[in-house]
Amino acid sequence: MIGSVSQRVWSLFYRVSEIMKPQVVFVLGGPGAGKGTQCTRIVENYSYTHLSAGDLLREERAREGSEFGQLIATYIKEGKIVPVEITINLLKKAMEDTMQKDEKKFRFLIDGFPRNENNLEGWNTVMDEKADVKFVLFFDCGNEVCINRCLERGKSSGRTDDNRESLEKRIQTYLQSTRPIIELYEKLGKVRTVDASRSVDEVFADVKAILDKEG
Ligand code: ADP
Ligand code: C5P
Ligand code: MG
Repeated sequence: MIGSVSQRVWSLFYRVSEIMKPQVVFVLGGPGAGKGTQCTRIVENYSYTHLSAGDLLREERAREGSEFGQLIATYIKEGKIVPVEITINLLKKAMEDTMQKDEKKFRFLIDGFPRNENNLEGWNTVMDEKADVKFVLFFDCGNEVCINRCLERGKSSGRTDDNRESLEKRIQTYLQSTRPIIELYEKLGKVRTVDASRSVDEVFADVKAILDKEG
C-alpha cells in the first residue's frame, strides 16, 4: 500500500519535472538602453535563450507572404506598439520551437515585451498559465543617452526607426506606455533595476550579480 503510494508520488514528480514550465525574464528599458547588448552577454554566460520582440517583428515584416508585413512596417517607423495578437503568436511560437529542439532550453529572456497594457493583457491571456515570469530586468537610462546611442547605431543598423523623427516618437511611447508597465511590476516587487547609462562591462557586472542571486 505505502509502496504503491510512494511509487505514484515519484511518477508524478518525474512527469512534472519532465514538462518544465518556461522560466521567463522580461527585459525592459528605453530604446537604445542596451537590452539587446546585455542579453547577448547573458546568453554567453548563462543558460538563457534570447527572444527580442522587436527582432521577431522585423523578421515577420520581412517574411514573404506575411499578411502583417505592411502593418508592422508602419508601426515600427511610427514608434507605435504592434497589436499584441501578432507579437504574442511570434513569441509563443519561438518559445515552443526552442523547447521542441532542446528540452533543456526552458529559460527565456523576453526582450522588449510587455511594452504596453495591450501587450500585458495578451501575455496574461495566452501565456500566463504556460510560463512563469521570474522578474523584470530593467535597464534604466536617460532619454538623451538612449537617443544618442540609437543615432549612433543608425549609422550602420539599416533600421527604419533609428532616426531622430522616429526616436522622438519611440521615447514618447516608452514614457507613456512602457514606464507604467514597469511601475506595475515594481509594485509587485518584481523589478530588478540596473543603471544602464554606464559602460557595457559595468552594466553587465550588475546584471551578473542579479542573475547569480536570482538563479
Ligand atoms: P536596445 O536593444 O535596448 O535598443 P542595443 O543593445 O541595441 O539597445 O544598444 C543600442 C546601441 O548602443 C548599440 O549600438 C550598442 O552597441 C550601444 N550600446 C549598448 N550598450 C551600451 C553601453 N553600455 N554604452 C555605450 N553604448 C552601448
Ligand atoms: O525593441 P526594439 O527597439 O527592437 O523595438 C522596435 C520596435 O518594434 C518598437 O519601437 C515597436 O514599434 C515594435 N515593437 C512592438 N511591440 C513590442 C516590441 C517592439 O510593437 N513588444
Ligand atoms: Mg534591441
